[in-house]
Amino acid sequence: MPSSQDPDYALLFRNNQRWVDRTNSNKPGFFQSLAQQQAPKYFWVGCSDSRVPANEVIDLAPGEVFVHRNVANVVPHSDLNALSTLQFAVDVLRVEHILVVGHYGCGGIKAVLDNARVGLADNWLGHVGDVMERHLTLLDSLPDAQTRHDRLCELNALEQAHNICRSTVLQDAWARNQRLTVHACVYGLKDGLLHDLGFNVREPHTVIAHYAHALDGLRQAG
Ligand code: CO
Repeated sequence: MPSSQDPDYALLFRNNQRWVDRTNSNKPGFFQSLAQQQAPKYFWVGCSDSRVPANEVIDLAPGEVFVHRNVANVVPHSDLNALSTLQFAVDVLRVEHILVVGHYGCGGIKAVLDNARVGLADNWLGHVGDVMERHLTLLDSLPDAQTRHDRLCELNALEQAHNICRSTVLQDAWARNQRLTVHACVYGLKDGLLHDLGFNVREPHTVIAHYAHALDGLRQAG
């Protein structure tokens, strides 16, 4: 048992023991075999939001999805954290699918649209501000704040997936013919559903066409 008497903390250890017991009885040998190696087929880049847990959303067990999460699922060209995780996923684990998953109701996106100050995170969210500025004409053409919010969630996922495609990690992997597809998706907090944004890139020379196609889809969504 943990030394702390804090009930909120102690709860985690009871939950953990119950989960271990349940997993051992449902899948004998599960932990022993998983400890040998991980071979996930998927790399999930998502928001840190507690309501968007990667494994649960796509109903995959431990060992099946490699995960990177940060505020507003951003993958800047120079972020060592995101790029290192991406590089490990691609070069070492050899995942086959990379998903950037935005979500509706994202607090980071909302802060940018409202021009609200949160603190240090405002600097990080500047990357979402860049996405907003790039698509200001599209966003300004929308009828209301809710639609603008939803659209910026989608545009941000698309732009971050596009950034991943342009990274040296993906460019090098594709150059050596590694099978690897980059997808952009958005998750609905209200219905639990994952939506594909029409950006599914498996070859470097199709990045621009896929980006234009996905953007067209978002323009027509109204
Ligand atoms: Co979020």
